[in-house]
Amino acid sequence: MRVIETVSDFRVAERKAPRPLGLVPTMGYLHEGHMSLAHRARADNATVSASIFVNPTQFGPNEDLSTYPRDMEGDLTKLEEAGVDLVFAPQLQEVYPPGFDTHVDVGEIATKLEGASRPDHFRGVATVVCKLLTIVRPDNVYFGQKDAQQTLVIKRLNADLNLGAEVVVMPTIRDSDGLALSSRNAYLDDGDRKAALTLSRSLDLARQLYDSENHDAEKIRAQMRNLIESEPRTSVDYISIADIETLDELDIIDRPALVSLAVRVGDVRLIDNTLLP
Ligand code: PAF
Repeated sequence: MRVIETVSDFRVAERKAPRPLGLVPTMGYLHEGHMSLAHRARADNATVSASIFVNPTQFGPNEDLSTYPRDMEGDLTKLEEAGVDLVFAPQLQEVYPPGFDTHVDVGEIATKLEGASRPDHFRGVATVVCKLLTIVRPDNVYFGQKDAQQTLVIKRLNADLNLGAEVVVMPTIRDSDGLALSSRNAYLDDGDRKAALTLSRSLDLARQLYDSENHDAEKIRAQMRNLIESEPRTSVDYISIADIETLDELDIIDRPALVSLAVRVGDVRLIDNTLLP
């Protein structure tokens, strides 16, 4: 496995790499969710690359950029074990050199849900992913369904700017008790960790209600909220039941829907989602 820090070195390696080439973009502190992407990339491609870069432009001013967990050594060991060939691990200045002043704004799909709660978040994601796709030039790029809206934003970006990658979305990986894996789970103390289970439980509840013919989206949102708010450490940012393609909120679940939510548990903001049916 080669670890490459500069764009120019990566370009040379990419030109020599057997195709197809897969890319797993990450911000590091890798968990089993990331590794499922790396394993799938290994199965699909002749060359597998991963990137590790904590992208400052996707964090808001009061968010956790400075405390975002990092473990470069541990990450490299995991990627090597997964059979990754090339790791792109640039320093900040390599991605955003002095004078950098170009940003990618994806339209409407990026304005809802996470986009409404975290202004400029998707601008930062789209800008860095656009750069990664043009530097690495992957045939296949891998993302987790846990960041459901991010996958829609990136598909839009990839199609609109003809970036030419196949966007592969892999299922959310959960702990045995249902908590979706996230690098931010590292911030949770024991009490918060228990309280965080209300996210996956509320999604299970939504599915149970849907399966027992309750398709009134507002009633389902209300019951999810009750479940989450029964836990005093939580506060709901949003609960959404929306069209899976447009993310427009639904009154009645009469088409494929994304049920998604963002909840603060103590100081930690977590997201999760499920698809209906
Ligand atoms: O999902 C993430 O880890 C990040 O948003 C990504 C796609 C690596 C861009 O920084």
